[in-house]
Amino acid sequence: MYSNNPVDFEIIPLSAAHRSWVREFITTRWGAPEIVVHDERFLPETLPGCLAVIAAVPAGLITWNIIGDTCEIISLDSLQPHRGIGSALLAAAETAARSAGCKTCCLVTTNDNIQAQRFYTNRGYYVTHIDLGAVNRARILKPAIPFVNGEGVPITDEITFVKTL
Ligand SMILES: CC(C)(COP(=O)(O)OP(=O)(O)OC[C@H]1O[C@@H](n2cnc3c(N)ncnc32)[C@H](O)[C@@H]1OP(=O)(O)O)[C@@H](O)C(=O)NCCC(=O)NCCS
Repeated sequence: MYSNNPVDFEIIPLSAAHRSWVREFITTRWGAPEIVVHDERFLPETLPGCLAVIAAVPAGLITWNIIGDTCEIISLDSLQPHRGIGSALLAAAETAARSAGCKTCCLVTTNDNIQAQRFYTNRGYYVTHIDLGAVNRARILKPAIPFVNGEGVPITDEITFVKTL
């Protein structure tokens, strides 16, 4: 477990009891229960992950998928930004990945998500690939993906970040 003052949160592993909550949370945050990246569909409710909780109330979620010696972060959401919750969730995923024998963590974010790009870059991740038009393809699999973000920036491309563990 992690904790961080002044916000007293804990990081706990996901269990089967959280499955329906994860489905609803991902649907609310990402428009559907699934996440589509690099032309693949992922259902976070079926994946390993961790929750950040404050007084037993969820304040963030991370899920990941391990294949071989690579751990891919599939979703990361913080409900209380700039208080260390995202960092603690990412650190928990990296710890789990190392324990599972992973050599790298990777993830995909989108061209419009400057905040996430800064967040990951500041935590040791670097860009390995930019897939122009990948979100346009993803939108065929998941029509709920918006065409623009909350600031009106077109969402078109996927950016892959990698960190050596
Ligand atoms: C990206 C995201 C998960 C970060 O979560 P977060 O809880 O804000 O993360 P943290 O608080 O650990 O760190 C965010 C920033 O706040 C800063 N911070 C952390 N604790 C702080 C504190 N007590 N006071 C001031 N700043 C603080 C961090 O240094 C960090 O700065 P940086 O991004 O310039 O490195 C969050 O913005 C989010 O949910 N975004 C929407 C979903 C999303 O885009 N997910 C990623 C998809 S790939």
